[in-house]
Amino acid sequence: MRIPLWLFLPAALAVAACTSSGEKPPMTETIPADRDIHSYARPWEARVTHVALDLTADFAAKTLAGSAVLDVQRTAGVKEIVLDTKELTIERVTGADGAALKFALGTLDPILGRPLTVELPSSGAITVVYRTSPDAAALQWLAPSQTAGKSHPYLYSQGQAILTRTWIPTQDSPGIRQTYAARITVPRELRAVMSAEQLTPDGEDGPNGRAFRFRMTHAIPPYLIAIAVGDLAFRSLGPRTGVYAEPAVVGGAAAEFADLESMVTAAEALLGPYLWGRYDVLVLPPSFPFGGMENPMVTFATPTILAGDKSLVSLLAHELAHSWSGNLVTNATWSDFWLNEGFTTYVERRIMEAVYGKARADVFRVLGWRDLATEIDRLGGMQSKDTVLHVDLKGRDPDDGATQVPYEKGAALLGLIEQTVGREKFDAYLKDYFKRHEFQSITTAQFLADIRSHLLTDKSVEATIRLEDWIFQTAIPVNAVQPKAAQLTEAGEQAAAFARGAGASTLRTKDWSTQEWLYFLQELPPTLPNERLAALDKAFGFSERRNAEVLFEWLHMAIRHHYQPAMPALERFLLSQGRRKFVRPLFDDLMKTDWGKAEAKLIYAAARPGYHAVTTQTLDGIVKKDAIFASNTSSISITELLTSTKRPERFVGLHFFNPVPLMKLVEVVRTIASASDVYDAAYEFAKKLGKVPVRTSDKTGFIVNRLLVPYLLDAIRAYEEGVGSIDDIDNAMKLGCGYPMGPFTLLDFVGLDTTYYITHVMYDEFKERRFSSPPLLKRMVMAGWYGRKSGKGFYDYSDPANPKPNKL
Ligand code: BES
Ligand code: ZN
Repeated sequence: MRIPLWLFLPAALAVAACTSSGEKPPMTETIPADRDIHSYARPWEARVTHVALDLTADFAAKTLAGSAVLDVQRTAGVKEIVLDTKELTIERVTGADGAALKFALGTLDPILGRPLTVELPSSGAITVVYRTSPDAAALQWLAPSQTAGKSHPYLYSQGQAILTRTWIPTQDSPGIRQTYAARITVPRELRAVMSAEQLTPDGEDGPNGRAFRFRMTHAIPPYLIAIAVGDLAFRSLGPRTGVYAEPAVVGGAAAEFADLESMVTAAEALLGPYLWGRYDVLVLPPSFPFGGMENPMVTFATPTILAGDKSLVSLLAHELAHSWSGNLVTNATWSDFWLNEGFTTYVERRIMEAVYGKARADVFRVLGWRDLATEIDRLGGMQSKDTVLHVDLKGRDPDDGATQVPYEKGAALLGLIEQTVGREKFDAYLKDYFKRHEFQSITTAQFLADIRSHLLTDKSVEATIRLEDWIFQTAIPVNAVQPKAAQLTEAGEQAAAFARGAGASTLRTKDWSTQEWLYFLQELPPTLPNERLAALDKAFGFSERRNAEVLFEWLHMAIRHHYQPAMPALERFLLSQGRRKFVRPLFDDLMKTDWGKAEAKLIYAAARPGYHAVTTQTLDGIVKKDAIFASNTSSISITELLTSTKRPERFVGLHFFNPVPLMKLVEVVRTIASASDVYDAAYEFAKKLGKVPVRTSDKTGFIVNRLLVPYLLDAIRAYEEGVGSIDDIDNAMKLGCGYPMGPFTLLDFVGLDTTYYITHVMYDEFKERRFSSPPLLKRMVMAGWYGRKSGKGFYDYSDPANPKPNKL
C-alpha cells in the first residue's frame, strides 16, 4: 500500500533543559572561599566523618548494591544532613537502631546531581541502603572482551572530581575529609582492590561470592575512594611498592616500574615521610580515561605508559607526588585545584631530577612549558579567564577547570618562587608546608597566608614574584622562568633541517628518547606536503609506533595534513584505548574538516561503547556537536520546531512515507536557517538509505501533502455535491488516473481525524478554501468515524476483507 504517513510527531529533540535546582545556596559574590559550590553539603551544620560500605558487585546488572553507614558530626540543634548523590537509587535510610529515617531526594542538577536530605536520629550513625545505576558515571563495567585476558569482566571507579556521588551517597566535597571502611563482595574468580589498606588480600568466601575488606584510617577527600574488581595479579617491586594488573600485563608492568621504590625514597627526601604505608600501582584496562589517578596507597594508571623502555614513568612520579600534594594536603574546593596539580607537577620534576638527573628532568620541564602554550591557544589566548590559577567555576563542571593551566602555570609559579628564594630555602618550606597541613584541605587563600608568614616574609620578595598576579590574573606573567633543555637541542636542529628540505633518512636520530621524538614532531613546520610526511613515516615508522605518546603526536599531525595513509593507525589507536588526553585532541582535529567529521562520527560510533563516561562526556560535546536534528513532521513547521534548539542551522526536516520500508520517497525540508552543508548531508543521508530524496522548503505540507490534501478534500466536496458515489469516485480516480487507490480508500487509511487535523494546520497557514475542512469530514470525525482504525469511515469495515461504502 502506498500511503503517505501523516505523523505529527516531531522527532525527539535532543535539547536538555539547563535549569539548575533551587537547592543550591544563592550564588552571590560573598560565597566564602572555602564554600564548595559543587556540593550540596552544609558541613557547618552536619558533616560525614566516616563511611562504611558493604556492597556487592553484580556484573550482570552492572550495579553495586548494599549499604553505606555514615558517621556524622553535627552542630547542636541541627536536625538534618544533606548528602550528594547522582544516579543512585535510595531504598531506605535507617538509624543505628534500625528505625527508618525520613529522607528526600531533591531536583536533579545536570552537573551536581541530587541532594539527599536525611532526618538525623538523636544520635548514632545513619545507614543508606542503595544501589548504583548501570550508567553511574564513576564506574565502568567492562566486558571480558575489553580486558587483556578476555575471559573475566572488570569494574573500576574514577572519583575525581565529583563522580564519587554516583556510587557512594556521601558528602562529595574535597573539603569534607572522611575515613572509610569497605566490604566488597565479588564473583569468586575475581579480586577487589581499593584505595585503602587490604585486610583480606585473598578474600573470604561468603554465600554470594568472595568478600574483600578494606580500611582507610586517614581522613581523605571522598574523590579518593576508589575500587577495582577484576582478574588481578600482584608483583612486588620493593619493601612497600608493587604493581597490580591482569596476569597477562603484570610482568611487563613490573619491569617498566622497576624504579618505583627509588622514586618513593626520593620523594620522601624532598617532602618528608610517606605516611600512607604501601605505594602500589594498578594498571587498568586501556579504557581508563586518565594517565594516572592518585588514589591513596594505589595509584590507578593507564596501560599506555607501558612503553617497554621506562620512558613514560614520569607519570608515576606525578601520581606519587600527589601522596603529598593532593592527598595529604588537598584543594578545599575545585577552584583551588591548582594547589593539587601545580604542586604535584613541580614535585614530579623534582623527583625525576633526583632519580634520573637534572638534564632529563629539564626535558620534561620544556615539554610541559610547551603544553602550556598550546593549551592557552586552545583556550582562546592569554586573556582567557581559564588562564587564571584560582579559576572561576560558577555554574560549570569542575572538569572544565582541569586544563594544563593549573598543572603547568602552577608548576611555573613554584619554579619561580624556588628560583627567587633559592632551592634550599624553598625545599625547607615545602617540607614544612606539608607537615603543617597534613590531612587537611586548604584554600588558595590559606596557602597565600601560609607562604606569606613562612617564606615570603619580606614584602619586596613577594612583589618581585608578583604572587597575586600569578594566582588571580589571566596570562603568564613576564617574570616566568622559561625552561631550557640541552638534551632537546639535536631534535630541534633535526626538525629544522627537515624543514629546510633534508631527506628524512639523513636525519641524525640515533638513540633518541621518547621525549626527543616528541619534541622533534612538535618542532616540525605546521604544514608539510604529503610526500614529506610519507618520507618521515617510511624512515621512522611513526604509524606503527607502539609508544602511545609518539603515536599520538604523529596522528595529531597526520590529521592536520589529511595524510590518508595514517588513517588506519588512527582508527586503531582510537578504538584501542580511551585515555582522554589522547582521544579528545584527535577527535577535535577530525571535527575541524568535512572529511574528518564523517570519519570522526564513524570511529566514535564504534569506539564510544568502549570508553569510560569521563571520556564520552567530553567527546559527546565534540563529536555530536554538529548532530543534525531532523524531524519527520509533515505539518508542524520545521522552523517552529527549531526555535527550541540553540543550533537552528543544524535543523532540517526528513519526511518519510508510510510504510517506510516500501516507500521510496523522502522529502528533505530546508528552513531559512538550515546551513547548506547540513541540508546536503541530510539529502545524502536519505540517498544512502536507498531512498529517493526530493528537495523542498519549509511550507506546511511540503510537496506531497500540499497537492494531495486539496485533492482529497475536493473528493469529499464532489461527493457532497452529488458528483458521484463513494465507490464510483474511488474507481474513477483509480482507473482514470492510474492511482493505486481512490481518494476515499486513502482517506480511510490515513484516518479522518488525522486529515481533519491537518486541514486546520494548512488552512491556518494559507487561509485558502482549498485547505479548509468540508462539513461532512467534520461531522464524521465528531461521530467517531475515523476510517479503517475505528471500523467506520467512508467505508464500513465490519468485514475488513470486503469494505462496503457507507451511505452518508
Ligand atoms: N588527578 C589527576 C587526574 C584528574 C584530574 C582526574 C582532574 C580528574 C580530574 C592526575 O594526577 C593527573 O594529573 N593525571 C595526568 C597525568 C599527569 C602525568 C599529568 C593524566 O591523566 O594525564
Ligand atoms: Zn595530577
